[in-house]
Amino acid sequence: MGWGRRSDNLGDVSGAFDDHPFIRACRGLPHDRVPVWFMRQAGRSLPEYRAIRGTGTILDAIADPDLSTEITLQPVRRHNVDAAILYSDIVVPAHAIGFGLTITPGVGPEVDEPFRHEDDLARLRPLDPEADTPYVLETVRQLVAELDRPLIGFAGAPFTVASYLVEGRPSRDHAITKSMMFNNEPLWHALCDRLADLAIASLQSQIDHGASAIQLFDSWAGSLSPRQYQRYAAPHSTKVMDALADAGIPRIHFGVTTGELLGQLAATGADVVGVDWRVPLSEARNRVGSGISLQGNLDPTTILAGVDAATEAAREVLADNDGHPGHIFNLGHGVMPASDPEVLTEIVRLVHREGTVRT
Ligand code: CP3
Repeated sequence: MGWGRRSDNLGDVSGAFDDHPFIRACRGLPHDRVPVWFMRQAGRSLPEYRAIRGTGTILDAIADPDLSTEITLQPVRRHNVDAAILYSDIVVPAHAIGFGLTITPGVGPEVDEPFRHEDDLARLRPLDPEADTPYVLETVRQLVAELDRPLIGFAGAPFTVASYLVEGRPSRDHAITKSMMFNNEPLWHALCDRLADLAIASLQSQIDHGASAIQLFDSWAGSLSPRQYQRYAAPHSTKVMDALADAGIPRIHFGVTTGELLGQLAATGADVVGVDWRVPLSEARNRVGSGISLQGNLDPTTILAGVDAATEAAREVLADNDGHPGHIFNLGHGVMPASDPEVLTEIVRLVHREGTVRT
């Protein structure tokens, strides 16, 4: 393929893949086929991932650029998705500055000493990406040299990363996090301000090394009411989006159960808003307003249900979008580990074959 140009020169990578359907769809521009990729496309659904992943924690795998590069490329080769997403994790910057956390297999991020008091702010120094996460930048460098399609860089949004640091482990209701918001608003904002700076430094360094788009994961923002989101989360995600506005690359903003927040996610400055399966794309489009592209929104459990169920549901997603050029096909949340990868490949073929884009 020959989408756009590749560059060996770090100062000259912005604008690479501008003609690629993924980038054009992010910008709502006409293109010739519906682009598709899957959140969590790299990972445990792939036997080739399990074969090379090793026995350490995922943080060990991320610290190995050759391994992370290969893991990022595996789903691109297998499924022919239109974009690669960097193999890393949203807690990598906090880990890299020594906050003290691990990612426990089958559980998720776990923190040795959760963030609870003013004193804990001192544990969140600024990120120096070259010194603190050289392995991430080397992985981005290797990927940009290898790939013939866009690489998506990413970071966790302040609210979602804060929820891990404050709770100390994955949580369903985020009760301790929300108590801190309600009881100590200055501390909450100070925490999120530092997490916004971590996200900005990390994303900017990924862009500088050649990422063609970025995604801000606010996976758990759906636990907030619109008023809570506006007061406690939006200012910090807006700060991240604003800081990257001049980079000239698409900024995707994603969360789960955010149907009531879609307009607010867009208003942070995002170019693309991720939609889970609970809101049809036709309705989501009304909620984000014009000029914003949508990403989604196939229910990931339809992949588990097999090729017939997934095909039927994927056709419904395409029909709901009705040929709008501002659509990147994806799941509504990540690939579930038990998914059959053959079904995912079949969905990519279907979207490329049957997806139409109005000009
Ligand atoms: O393929 C991709 O999408 C890129 C890689 C990626 C990972 N994590 C790798 C990973 C991305 C984009 C993330 C982001 C991430 N990490 C999010 C936001 C996305 C989402 O799902 O909403 C969140 C909430 C996390 C925190 C986290 N890390 C969780 C909840 C888990 C799952 C724990 C488990 O074992 O089930 C992780 C670990 C993790 N991150 C895995 C992978 C492939 C699985 C563990 C492993 O292989 O060791």
